[in-house]
Amino acid sequence: MDLGLTGKVALVLGSTAGLGRASAEALAAEGAHVVVVGRRAELVDALVESLPSAAGVVADVTDPDAPALLVNRAREQFGEVDIVVLNGGGPPPGAADSFTAEAAQAAFDLLLKQHISLVGAVLPGMRQRGWGRILAVGSSGVQQPIPTLTASNVGRAALAAYLKTLACTVAGDGVTVNMVLPGRIDTDRVAQLDRAAAERTGRTPEDARAASEAAIPTGRYGEPAEFGAVVAFLASRQAGYVTGEQVRVDGGLVGAY
Ligand SMILES: NC(=O)c1ccc[n+]([C@@H]2O[C@H](COP(=O)([O-])OP(=O)(O)OC[C@H]3O[C@@H](n4cnc5c(N)ncnc54)[C@H](OP(=O)(O)O)[C@@H]3O)[C@@H](O)[C@H]2O)c1
Repeated sequence: MDLGLTGKVALVLGSTAGLGRASAEALAAEGAHVVVVGRRAELVDALVESLPSAAGVVADVTDPDAPALLVNRAREQFGEVDIVVLNGGGPPPGAADSFTAEAAQAAFDLLLKQHISLVGAVLPGMRQRGWGRILAVGSSGVQQPIPTLTASNVGRAALAAYLKTLACTVAGDGVTVNMVLPGRIDTDRVAQLDRAAAERTGRTPEDARAASEAAIPTGRYGEPAEFGAVVAFLASRQAGYVTGEQVRVDGGLVGAY
């Protein structure tokens, strides 16, 4: 199936590794020009080299100047941004009974504030051209809060509320807004969470991973490419009538409808 992404310009935040990288690769494989973003210059360069049409920006997405810098860079290289994938690092783990107001503020800054600024920088052009795709990497914790990830649950729920509200506002202008919710996809971040769980519970990281996989109906972690494929579909021409959605890529982890 031709997803209609040839020549589209995609800005993918946090794309030197994991879910962002898989999203960048999937969009590039469909013919999009991809702007790769991350703090590790060597990984930015390596990914740009490996993709058919890509440019890299070494940037920290939490930097207040990052949204304007990234959009300008994309424009210089390829033209106006058609697709944006909001992504970045996750906040530190922690239980709700030790959560603080400062940690809540930090979660909002990391998971909400910069993404709102980035959307503000690309949205007017998308509306004017009558076509745009705003996608955010979320978490299954948006729908089923994860007890050890309070900051993530709180910050991403706020992002979900913003995006759902935005989706209705811009739907008539050809701009779709969706979240993709990973459960447990096999990335560095999940390996790090398994190590933290192992330390907390006095197990090996392998045992922590096995216990985590056993809780997933498919019995395994997802592959990053399985996540990237869903991102590419939601960015596609064919997904033009899908908006305001949260699409889970979680192997059946969340039990609710
Ligand atoms: N994997 C899962 O199953 C899962 C589940 C639920 C939620 N999530 C969330 O999804 C997001 C991506 O997860 P992942 O598993 O792909 O993590 P990952 O493997 O650790 O990759 C994170 C990516 O974000 C980039 N990044 C982090 N902080 C950044 C910053 N300040 N500025 C620019 N780039 C930054 C990293 O690149 P540099 O280090 O080069 O900057 C890297 O490319 C995270 O927020 C995570 O919490 C993941």
